[in-house]
Amino acid sequence: MNILVTGANGQLGNEMRILAKDSADNFVFTDVVDASEESIAMLKKLAGEDINTDTENLDITKLEAIREVVKREQIDAIVNCAAYTNVDAAENNYELAELLNAKAPENLAVAMKEVKGFLVHISTDYVFGKEPYNTPCKEDQKGTPTGVYGLTKLHGEQAIQKVGCKYVIIRTAWLYSEYGKNFVKTMLNLTATKPQLKVVFDQVGTPTYALDLANAINVILEDYKKESLTQNNGPYTKNGVYHFSDEGVCSWYDFTKMIAAFANNNDCDIQPCHSDEFPSKVKRPAFSVLDKTKIKDVVGVKVPYWTDSLKICLHNMLVKLN
Ligand SMILES: NC(=O)c1ccc[n+]([C@@H]2O[C@H](COP(=O)([O-])OP(=O)(O)OC[C@H]3O[C@@H](n4cnc5c(N)ncnc54)[C@H](OP(=O)(O)O)[C@@H]3O)[C@@H](O)[C@H]2O)c1
Repeated sequence: MNILVTGANGQLGNEMRILAKDSADNFVFTDVVDASEESIAMLKKLAGEDINTDTENLDITKLEAIREVVKREQIDAIVNCAAYTNVDAAENNYELAELLNAKAPENLAVAMKEVKGFLVHISTDYVFGKEPYNTPCKEDQKGTPTGVYGLTKLHGEQAIQKVGCKYVIIRTAWLYSEYGKNFVKTMLNLTATKPQLKVVFDQVGTPTYALDLANAINVILEDYKKESLTQNNGPYTKNGVYHFSDEGVCSWYDFTKMIAAFANNNDCDIQPCHSDEFPSKVKRPAFSVLDKTKIKDVVGVKVPYWTDSLKICLHNMLVKLN
């Protein structure tokens, strides 16, 4: 297959580069920004000098530009890792968030429909939030977002479904990786340098190592290839919305305690606190644990336990990349 990856220089996009190295498929990596020197150096250290660090410039808000790459590279599938991901800033930037999180995925869906291609799109647990759920959320459960980010991501899901290309939408949660800025990196630094730290314990979810999500995407691409592409580019019977995070449940407080423990940052006194101690324009979901039964049963994705994956990522950051 010829596979186009958008947002290739973000957290998930970089993990897709790692997996692409051992793939028989041909990957075209695109983004609106070049890969940073730091990310390129990290990729080479973790995966070897021959890893593909190229980036073609592609702005997915531009339908004609997408069509041009799809035609030139004879793209069979797109993995959309691009998004407007700044949850707080989205509150003041509705139009831009809607453009990137809703209109852009619609463009990708249109481009794939025109060539009978397949779109793998990433959405979020923040499509949930308003309903006071306290058991893991299933894919068909009603979701009412609490903020602009979640709402625009929900619009993106709806736009893809309306276009009607072959698609899989994966809702994921609390992503972290070796690349870019994320909660793990922030807490590694804070627990190493601050004597005391307060972290909210009243928001519960599941951390997800972006490499695990990239693995799940890979399983879906292989399944698609087996079922649809080899059957004369026919329909894909597993179209739909799926949930994927790592296994288990924790609060941001528990997550921080585990990061500090694995990193041996033992001198920081970490205390639980309520969300209202950190005033924010956006109310985040109190409970957004995702039920992953469907992706396990239907596509056969294996889901690692969150602390096992956290250990691997921290080992990469603290040992292999040092
Ligand atoms: N991060 C999380 O905790 C989390 C949780 C749940 C779901 N998700 C979803 O998971 C997916 C991957 O997230 P991530 O954390 O890997 O994202 P990320 O690190 O923010 O990467 C997104 C990439 O997309 C690029 N981009 C921005 N505008 C673009 C455009 N017009 N055309 C093409 N690329 C563009 C960004 O460039 P710039 O850096 O220049 O903007 C960035 O390189 C997203 O769909 C996100 O909504 C993330």
